[in-house]
This record gives sequence, structure tokens and C-alpha cells, in this order.
Amino acid sequence: MACNLHLLFPTPILVVETTSFFEDHHKIIQEDYESNTDNINVSKDKFLLNKFPQLKNWILDQVHQYAVNTMACDSKFNITQSWSILSNKNLHFHQHPNSIISGAYYIDADNNSSEIKFLKPYIHGQIKWKTDINLYKEQDWLWDYVSFKPKTGTLILFPSYLNHGVTTNNLESNRCVLSFNTWFKDSIGSIEELNFLQINS
Ligand SMILES: [Fe+2]
Repeated sequence: MACNLHLLFPTPILVVETTSFFEDHHKIIQEDYESNTDNINVSKDKFLLNKFPQLKNWILDQVHQYAVNTMACDSKFNITQSWSILSNKNLHFHQHPNSIISGAYYIDADNNSSEIKFLKPYIHGQIKWKTDINLYKEQDWLWDYVSFKPKTGTLILFPSYLNHGVTTNNLESNRCVLSFNTWFKDSIGSIEELNFLQINS
């Protein structure tokens, strides 16, 4: 009997670390912040990366590599919006609409900072069976969520549709994270195939 289990359609999350932009971190923490409807401190500037061209270009390079490696897409991307959050509070689970690839770049995080948690995009919530923890723990493709410990200078890239949030918090530890969305720089699709799209034509 031939039996093959194919684990198809993975969700790519890229984690990159850099120590190149620590001078920018201080300026981003010093930005003006305002409280949003969830009482989270968000930078007043919602296009923050425009002030930090070197950091922005480095992030765009990583986005391009991510697109090449995980989407077979050699197109260039733009950062559409970018903002920072200075908070030790919970962040409810959310997606980033009107974006292809999103990211979180940690401006200030230490060992006590709460983890960012990504939810599996398809969860069998309606039917619950007894999960054998020993069978479950070694196989990451079975997990319902994955958490990453933030560290200063770490960039996490993920598909914008992927639900994520911060559920546990250490109130002693502040956390500053710069988030951003992206879109294709040039038109996409094909006129002949009737799926052409050009924004800002
Ligand atoms: Fe987010």
C-alpha cells in the first residue's frame, strides 16, 4: 500500500533581525502619540516610515524578498501606511485590510514583552475532539496558533489576511512596534485576461 500525506498550502511568516536602525528607534519612540478607540497609544503620523527612508528601504527590500520567495512575485511594493504603537496593553485580533503583505518591526521590546500571536487561518471551531498533546506538539502544521517573542530590531512579515494580536501582557514592560501595510507599486493582472488593476492611474 502506498500512502503519502501531503502538507500543502503553508502560511509564510518571515522573521528577520537587524541592528542597523537603533538611532531611528529613539526618534520613533519620541513621536507624538494619541489614544485610539481601544485606548492604545498610536503615533499621530500614520505614514511614519516616510521620515525614515533608510529603514523604509530596508523593509521594502525584505518585502520584495518575501514576495519572491513565498508568492513567486518579482514585483516591487509600496508601503501604503505605517504607524507605531507604544503600549503594554492587549491588542485584539485583527487583519490588515487593503494590503498584501503586512509587517511588525520592533522598535523597543525585551524579554518581558508580550508575544505576538498568529491564528491559523482555518480553524475547525465547530467540532472539538480530544487532542493528544504528544501527537500535537511536534507537528507545527497542526497548531491553532503560533506565537513569536518580540525583540528589538526584529521584523516580522506576514500575509495581511492573517489574524494576529497580543493577548497576554506584562504591564511592567513597555513595547513599541512599528506596523505597516503594502500594495503593489505597479499595475497587476492582464488586460487580455480581464483582471487588470491599476490604482492611481
Ligand atoms: Fe496588526
